[in-house]
Amino acid sequence: MGRLDNKVAIVTGGASGIGERMVELFSQEGAIVIAADINEAALERVRQKENVYGMKLNVSSEEDWQALAKEVNNHFGKIDILVNNAGISSEKQYQEINLDDWGKMLSINGFGPFAGMKHVAPYMAEQKKGSIVNISSYTAQIGQGFNHYSASKGAVRAISKAAATTFGHQGVRVNTLFPGIIETPMTKSLETSKDLLGRLVQATPLQRLGQPEDIANAALFLASDESSFITGAELVIDGGFSAQ
Ligand SMILES: NC(=O)c1ccc[n+]([C@@H]2O[C@H](COP(=O)([O-])OP(=O)(O)OC[C@H]3O[C@@H](n4cnc5c(N)ncnc54)[C@H](O)[C@@H]3O)[C@@H](O)[C@H]2O)c1
Repeated sequence: MGRLDNKVAIVTGGASGIGERMVELFSQEGAIVIAADINEAALERVRQKENVYGMKLNVSSEEDWQALAKEVNNHFGKIDILVNNAGISSEKQYQEINLDDWGKMLSINGFGPFAGMKHVAPYMAEQKKGSIVNISSYTAQIGQGFNHYSASKGAVRAISKAAATTFGHQGVRVNTLFPGIIETPMTKSLETSKDLLGRLVQATPLQRLGQPEDIANAALFLASDESSFITGAELVIDGGFSAQ
């Protein structure tokens, strides 16, 4: 028996890195998984997996969210799980960041999860049950120099708490994960990555970088009924880095 048998799950950013691992794990555990992503080419690869449907979504588009939530609910009859995982990062320094940079970052990383909850939670409320997992970052909790990125992830932290209280009485749970540095295409693309990643391993109590699996396993627990009395919770997954 799978831990997500008969569940219908949407994972944004499901065509790469952490999201792709979640898509695999959730489907292995019995869920029908909709990998929702802006990257069509990467979606083609994910569509090859069993019980996985790839759907195009720009998380910063309210129209896209409205259409996707409606289509998934019409087609599969319900939505049980939403993981707001899609995101972008930036290494721009404080003095280089302008209003356009700020707007783009906050619209994808902040408005994206907000709009996802806004359009998916009502379908969950119809069955008085649902689990939403939002992906923030350890940079929302400690200063690591990722300025507007940290702001966007701080927004995720705050709206998750607010949503847990807003949707709790409708049976919808909202929890948040705070990954440390995880080896994915996102971190590999950072220009400073080699130097930064090496220093981070040294500075991490568990002496390694995180893997997509580390985040996917936690998301699986929060998505499943095993966590049915947990909402508004925050879990840092960073090998102990921010505990210091
Ligand atoms: N990798 C890390 O070290 C790390 C650390 C903390 C938090 N996170 C967060 O985890 C999440 C996943 O990161 P990852 O490392 O797997 O990155 P990734 O770049 O490998 O994957 C991100 C996915 O999001 C998709 N995406 C980007 N913009 C989108 C949009 N507007 N609409 C829909 N999809 C969009 C991309 O196409 C991609 O498939 C992100 O929210 C990221 O901020 C990552």
